[in-house]
Amino acid sequence: MVFCIVISSYTLSAADGHRSSTCTYTYSDWGACQPNNTQIRTVLSKTPSRCTGTPVTTQYCNYVSPTPTPTPTSGAYTVIGWNDLGMHCMNSEFKEMAILPPYNNLKVQVLQKGQSPKIVTSGITVEYSIINNTTSSNKTDFWQYVQQLFGVALAPDMGLAGKGLSGKMTAVNDHFEAIGIPITPYDDQFKWNPYQRASVTVKDLTGKVIGSTEVVIPVSDELNCGKCHATGGVASGNINAGSLESNILTLHDKNNGTNLMGSRPVLCASCHSDNALGLTGNPALPSLSRAMHGRHSELGATSPGCYDCHPGPKTQCNRSAIEGMGSVGTNPNCEKCHGTLQQLAQGLDNGRIPWVQEPSCAQCHDSGFSTGTALYKNSKGHGGVYCEACHNSSHAWYPSKNALDNVQPIKLQGNAGPIGKCAVCHTNTPSGEIH
Ligand code: HEC
Ligand code: HEC
Ligand code: HEC
Ligand code: HEC
Ligand code: HEC
Ligand code: HEC
Ligand code: HEC
Repeated sequence: MVFCIVISSYTLSAADGHRSSTCTYTYSDWGACQPNNTQIRTVLSKTPSRCTGTPVTTQYCNYVSPTPTPTPTSGAYTVIGWNDLGMHCMNSEFKEMAILPPYNNLKVQVLQKGQSPKIVTSGITVEYSIINNTTSSNKTDFWQYVQQLFGVALAPDMGLAGKGLSGKMTAVNDHFEAIGIPITPYDDQFKWNPYQRASVTVKDLTGKVIGSTEVVIPVSDELNCGKCHATGGVASGNINAGSLESNILTLHDKNNGTNLMGSRPVLCASCHSDNALGLTGNPALPSLSRAMHGRHSELGATSPGCYDCHPGPKTQCNRSAIEGMGSVGTNPNCEKCHGTLQQLAQGLDNGRIPWVQEPSCAQCHDSGFSTGTALYKNSKGHGGVYCEACHNSSHAWYPSKNALDNVQPIKLQGNAGPIGKCAVCHTNTPSGEIH
């Protein structure tokens, strides 16, 4: 053990009748950094023995939550969870404007292993919680403004679709889901991390745990509008309205003759349709996707890149390790599948429906991987298992560059690739292939 000697001086009051003297402490090593970002040590000895100074036994440290060590699954059931999107975006403040609320979707399939594995949705309950992230209402002002923005009153920490930060998942046909979990990227120590983790537990009707898993539930508030719209930025137009949001609303009012400043808090989708929220807006106006991508594509040299609004240089939402599909160096690589800002806007003008028609696997892989007109996130493949169960959500396709995403496949099959070991679900050695 390494001891460290620290000298601290102190002064005794005149009433003690003693002279000033110096206290020397011998400390133990610092302990491990705790989740509350502090570490402690103890005083092993002090000299002279009668001294009464104040030893320093706690200090700030940067707590890093441990990467869980996967243990191989055994047992009669296989539990696979996933998030429907590789990243959910949210505003962190709603006092003035709202693009997207906290709203995350968790899905799970439970398979009973066998020669013909069975997808199970009855006779079991599936519960979820978010690890070290048990409240949201103290991390965003969403619940103060939800009534004005969305017209519903919600209890703190309750989501827009009736699910909270933990609870029972709902059985739907061939899977379980919890829709609209109002998770934020701040854990219980207020540490920012867009890769929060959900813990899923499956029980039989006697309450016995028969399976479990852990899966990333991603959420980020890294929207970066301030890079240009903050006062003094290239897009501020000499506006200094007191906050970033006020600057944007003032600019919008100036350019379009609206009165958003007088209507705060403003839900953009109340006028610009948004299929992510299922809101039709004013059909005479461009959709929010068309308005945002279109207007920002006309700006020449000041045009933003995808990571200027989508999360982002810190979050790195496009994180698959598959070559050609994830980011390439610092380039998020979005354009390879989605096209440029101009092409996004043009595509929408040519009739693409935002959020409903997106790039497909078959545009690069062969037609055997086509999901037809259905979104990848809603499609199923081998044995009725969802594509996302084996491949993970878009932008986080297995294997991922983020070790947290890989925890589940490593636990199931010992490697981070798409779920491909027959023994994850089959108890025999079946012939044939997955695709
Ligand atoms: C890389 C710079 C950049 C980023 C990042 C950026 N913008 Fe802009 N934005 C601009 C510029 C430049 C304009 C045009 C300013 C003008 O009209 O004077 C603009 C215009 C706008 C307008 C006015 C549209 C109109 O009616 O003409 C809105 C609203 C807007 N941005 C919202 C946002 C939001 C919300 C974000 C973040 C999600 C964002 N912008 C991120 C550069 C940026
Ligand atoms: C009260 C209705 C209303 C609300 C709410 C609203 N807008 Fe608009 N927006 C408009 C109108 C009207 C236009 C002008 C449309 C046109 O010229 O076709 C516009 C235009 C825009 C444009 C420029 C589109 C283009 O192609 O030039 C952007 C960008 C935009 N809005 C973003 C936003 C954002 C971001 C929000 C939320 C902070 C928002 N809007 C909220 C009514 C609204
Ligand atoms: C100025 C900010 C801004 C920039 C830059 C931006 N986006 Fe977006 N994007 C948004 C916003 C805001 C939404 C959410 C709109 C909604 O909620 O409907 C969105 C939604 C989307 C969607 C889903 C809606 C749809 O049209 O299907 C896609 C896909 C998308 N963006 C891709 C991109 C790509 C690719 C780039 C870079 C080429 C990019 N975005 C750059 C602001 C931006
Ligand atoms: C390898 C191709 C590929 C790349 C690279 C890519 N995307 Fe996507 N993106 C897709 C596919 C495929 C979907 C549709 C998934 C579905 O159908 O469920 C999608 C969907 C989306 C959506 C709609 C919501 C969702 O997740 O389904 C947004 C927003 C989006 N992408 C933004 C981006 C941004 C921003 C980047 C870069 C940071 C990016 N994409 C990079 C293929 C890609
Ligand atoms: C922009 C083109 C593009 C799109 C769109 C695309 N991929 Fe890929 N994908 C690639 C490339 C390129 C490779 C080959 C990389 C290599 O050879 O290592 C690849 C490889 C893969 C692999 C690894 C195959 C193996 O055997 O190692 C998987 C899995 C995969 N893609 C899944 C998907 C899924 C699922 C989708 C749709 C959600 C999709 N891809 C959409 C370009 C694309
Ligand atoms: C039971 C797990 C499983 C399911 C379900 C599944 N896949 Fe795969 N997929 C894999 C594995 C494993 C691979 C790696 C290559 C292989 O073994 O064929 C793969 C490979 C791929 C590839 C890359 C093929 C190439 O070019 O090398 C694409 C694209 C793909 N899958 C798309 C899909 C789509 C779309 C769905 C849903 C309709 C789907 N997968 C459902 C396990 C699955
Ligand atoms: C994620 C779970 C999963 C994985 C991994 C998986 N399968 Fe399956 N497989 C299923 C399910 C579910 C069925 C549907 C059983 C039924 O028909 O009810 C199925 C059915 C089959 C069938 C049809 C006959 C039957 O037994 O019902 C074959 C053949 C098969 N799988 C082969 C394979 C092979 C080979 C692999 C490994 C390369 C594999 N599977 C990996 C889940 C899986």
